[in-house]
Parts: sequence; structure tokens; C-alpha cells
Amino acid sequence: MINTLNRYFQELETPFYFYDIGLLRRTLTTIKNEVSSVPYHVHYALKANVNNRLLKEILSFGFGADCVSGNEVIKALKAGFPSKQIVFAGVGKTDREILTALENDIFSFNVESIQELEIIDQLAGRIGRKARFALRLNPNVDPETHEYITTGKRDNKFGITFDGFLSIIEKLSEFNNSIFIGLHFHIGSQITKPDKFVHLAKKANEIQQFLHDKNINITHLNMGGGLGVNYESPDSNNIADFRTYFQNFKKKLEIKEGQQVHFELGRSIVAQCGSLITRVLYQKEGAGNPFLVVDAGMTELIRPALYKAFHHIENLSSNQPMRPYNVVGPICETSDSFGNQVMLNEGKRGDLLAVRSTGAYAEVMSSRYNLREVAPSVYSDDFMVDIKE
Ligand code: LLP
Repeated sequence: MINTLNRYFQELETPFYFYDIGLLRRTLTTIKNEVSSVPYHVHYALKANVNNRLLKEILSFGFGADCVSGNEVIKALKAGFPSKQIVFAGVGKTDREILTALENDIFSFNVESIQELEIIDQLAGRIGRKARFALRLNPNVDPETHEYITTGKRDNKFGITFDGFLSIIEKLSEFNNSIFIGLHFHIGSQITKPDKFVHLAKKANEIQQFLHDKNINITHLNMGGGLGVNYESPDSNNIADFRTYFQNFKKKLEIKEGQQVHFELGRSIVAQCGSLITRVLYQKEGAGNPFLVVDAGMTELIRPALYKAFHHIENLSSNQPMRPYNVVGPICETSDSFGNQVMLNEGKRGDLLAVRSTGAYAEVMSSRYNLREVAPSVYSDDFMVDIKE
């Protein structure tokens, strides 16, 4: 348990991101076992966290990379991901980003509009390359997650509508420098209802059948990412339910001879191995619950301020009785709060708090607002400890 680390953490300057490398490895092993007997390929979504130490671990398990910017493509290549295992999505790829991907001969572009495809085709022609691409379809599946991280509903900016898809299919032969290899979907993030992925698999089957009837055969299906994690109980559910997730695709997604299936998992790989460690600066009374003012803020973890996201918090330094606190950061914004009415062991100046499940979309979304210092990272194996128990 993380509270056994209090004595190691006491010496360190706060705030910092702590990563449990043992848990990351157990998570990666679980995924690897689930996909070993099927033609499934996992591409880690770099947008969740580009910490070099984590990338090194993920790479050592043979996973590919899912990128959403030219710089992420460069980062993935520098980290050692083979270009043939890199996919590139995003509604607004610039010419420069497209050229970077073409020059490095990445595995596939996930194309989000006909105009984007025209530009990729032109640029590929200009530099004498062939671009492999999958069409990202908007399947109109409601993933029932936070509205800001829903991507596969009809009115979202992502993906191509069915009508748009039809017009691209009719013009496929005009794209001389591009090779149509497959379909791509990504319906949203932090999806906790497994039947959403069943729904997605069925939509993918319908579209594949449609292509098949037109004698268009594709070799790749990309189901995106989105598997949610349990933010409420990070210890009892520290590895996401990859068994059910992949079983649903194994049972429902119809794949043809020789077809390969791709996944772009981000959060479910790295969220639970990370915690943000912060120190209590001040206690102060408020009109409601007392405040604990800590030295980390929305600059290190923006999810509560941006999405009203819940993160479990614990006091690592106290075993006093529990009481409710409003846990707030030092930033000059009222939204700079990690939670109201958080039940914590009674706290005092100097105590260390762990804000849990911050491995995904925390360090990578950090900012220098208020000219804050960049928080460092600390790894479990720096202390030579395995915190399984
Ligand atoms: N593939 C594509 C095309 C994506 O847009 C995303 C995430 C993923 C894969 C990875 O999804 P995951 O497995 O991590 O759910 N900042 C938000 C999450 C934004 C997700 C954006 N796209 C948050 O903190 O909740």
C-alpha cells in the first residue's frame, strides 16, 4: 500500500508524481496475456502520459504507439517505438505533422475527413511516398462518459459521418498515393460500461459487411481506446478489467481471414500506477468544512477543475480519526480544488497526501500557470520497494 512509503517520501520535495513500476508491469503483463492468442495489437496512447520511464516499460512489452500530434510521433520514435507500429489520429493534422509522419513511414494515418485525405495524398505524392490510412468513422455510439471526453456521438467533431464515408469510398481510386487499409473508431474515454464496446463491435461489423458487399476488403480494424479505470477504489481495482474488455471483442467483433485488430489504450494502462504526492501547507477554517491547502494544484492535476473528475485522496502521514476536508491547491482560481468533503485522517501542516490514479492525463496536462515549477517524477524502484502488499 502506498502509505508504507510515507517515510521515503518525507525526505523529498513536493509536489511530485510517484509511479509504481511494479503495478505498471503487472498491468502490461495482464494485457499481453489477454491478446497473445489473437491477432490483436495494442498501441499505447501517448497522450495519456509521455514520461520516458513509463514509455520504456511499455515498449519493452512490444506494444505500438498511438499519437495525436507530430511531436508525439517524434517522441514515440525517439523512445524506440518502431515506425511500423505507430498510428496517427487527430482532426487537425497540419501539413508539417503529416510530412513528419510520411517521412518516417508510420504504419497508418487515422483520417478524419475527406479534405484531410486529399492533403495527405498530395503530400505523399510530393515526397514520393505511399500513405497507409484507416478511415475514422463516427459510429454514433454514446459511451455515457463525461461530455468533454465523448468522441463517437453524431455531433462530436471527431470522425467521418456515414455519408462522408460513402463519398470517400466512391473516390478511393483517385487517391493514387494512399492505400486504404482499414477502419478506425474511438468512441470516448473513461468508459465503464462494457456493453458500449459490444455496441461498437456490432457497428464495426455492419460497416465491414457493407464494404465486403462492395468488394472492398480491408486488412485492419482499429477499435481505439477508452477503457475506464476505477477512480473510487484504486487499491482493490488497480488493474482494469481487460478480460471482459477483450472478451467482448473476441466474441462480438467478426474478423475475416488475415485481418488484424488494433487498440489504442491509454488511461487503462497507466492511470493506476501514478499518484500525485503533495504536502499540506496550511489548515484553515471555512464557512463549511475546513480547508487543507496543499502544495499541488490544478497545474499538476487539472482533471478535477476541468471535468469535475473524482480522485481518491489519502493522508499518508496520519492515523488520526477521519474528518471531512475541502482539499485545495495554491493556484489563484476557485476551481483549483481536488475535492470537497473529502474524508481524510485528521491533517496538519507537513502531512503528505496522495492523490491517486494520476498516471494518466495528469503529468502530461500539467502547466506553468502562475509560473509554477515543473513537478518531478519519482519511481517505486528508486526505493527498491515493491508495494504490492
Ligand atoms: N485514441 C484516440 C483517438 C483518442 O482520442 C484517445 C483519447 C485514446 C485513443 C485513448 O483513450 P483512453 O484509452 O486513454 O481512454 N484528458 C481526458 C481524456 C481525453 C482522452 C482523449 N482521447 C481526461 O483526463 O479524462
